[in-house]
Amino acid sequence: MKHLLSLESLPAGDMAEILALTKTIKAMRNHPAEHPLRNQCWGMIFSKSSTRTRVSFEVGIRELGGDALFLSANDIQLGRGEPIKDTARVMGRMLHGAVIRTFAQQDVEDFARYSNIPTINALTDDEHPCQILADLFTIQEKLGTYGGKTVTFIGDGACNVSRSWIWAASKLNFQLRIASPKPFQPSPELIARAGGNIVVTDDVVAAVSGADVLYTDVWVSMGLEREAEYRLAQLAGYQINAELLKKAAPGALAMHCLPAYRGKEITDEVVEGHADTIFTEAENRLHVQKAIITWLLK
Ligand code: CP
Ligand code: NVA
Repeated sequence: MKHLLSLESLPAGDMAEILALTKTIKAMRNHPAEHPLRNQCWGMIFSKSSTRTRVSFEVGIRELGGDALFLSANDIQLGRGEPIKDTARVMGRMLHGAVIRTFAQQDVEDFARYSNIPTINALTDDEHPCQILADLFTIQEKLGTYGGKTVTFIGDGACNVSRSWIWAASKLNFQLRIASPKPFQPSPELIARAGGNIVVTDDVVAAVSGADVLYTDVWVSMGLEREAEYRLAQLAGYQINAELLKKAAPGALAMHCLPAYRGKEITDEVVEGHADTIFTEAENRLHVQKAIITWLLK
């Protein structure tokens, strides 16, 4: 039984296989040769808000020939305290696969274990693996390859998106630089455990110098709203703006997993100037989700 629970646990060869499948699936979108989810119903259990992940999985599952059941955690007994392992054992007897967005990474791991159906992490507090696979695919499309490139993540370097970037960089051939103020840097233990070509600094200009991709994410991740004021103050100098972009390599990409808060982590000018990259990145979520599911069923 295969799952996609994290990039930490996904071997480099599997990442490459998913990216290769994505290319075929994207090219064949209007002429699909196979419907591997025919007669299958997948559940999407979400405890946090979502636009891109929800729509891309719902559309993707349908395009693969299956049905998708969206289950807001608030509407099922999970939200009233039913344990994840009981929820998993019930759903595993009815559904053919599950896509889960929640807080604790352990909940996704437990769901996979107790449900015994293919399970996908659609974002936890620790990781956002599907997003970074879509980002890598987008870099390949726009720059030809991620191999040998430098990706600079600017902002909350300890968040789920940054952490999935760390695990991608630990296994694939590119340099990751993380520019964050000290309280928002990933722990040295995590960086040591990951290995790979990763630099962590609070010097945003040095981190951006000559980089091929400037990447950011929201400063206040879901579930951390109570820290909003502190985070906005601490991260104020870590914005992707036109001035900072000038220090990157010529033709550098500006990327954002979205949703974007203009005037905070990125300016309106940069979002609009790089809209083709940023919204292709969003569209690629669909093609990658279909590739992930196809890969899980192999
Ligand atoms: N990037 C991303 O996961 O977007 P959503 O929160 O809208 O799903
Ligand atoms: N770090 C963000 C990602 C949103 C897609 C969050 O967890 O809210």
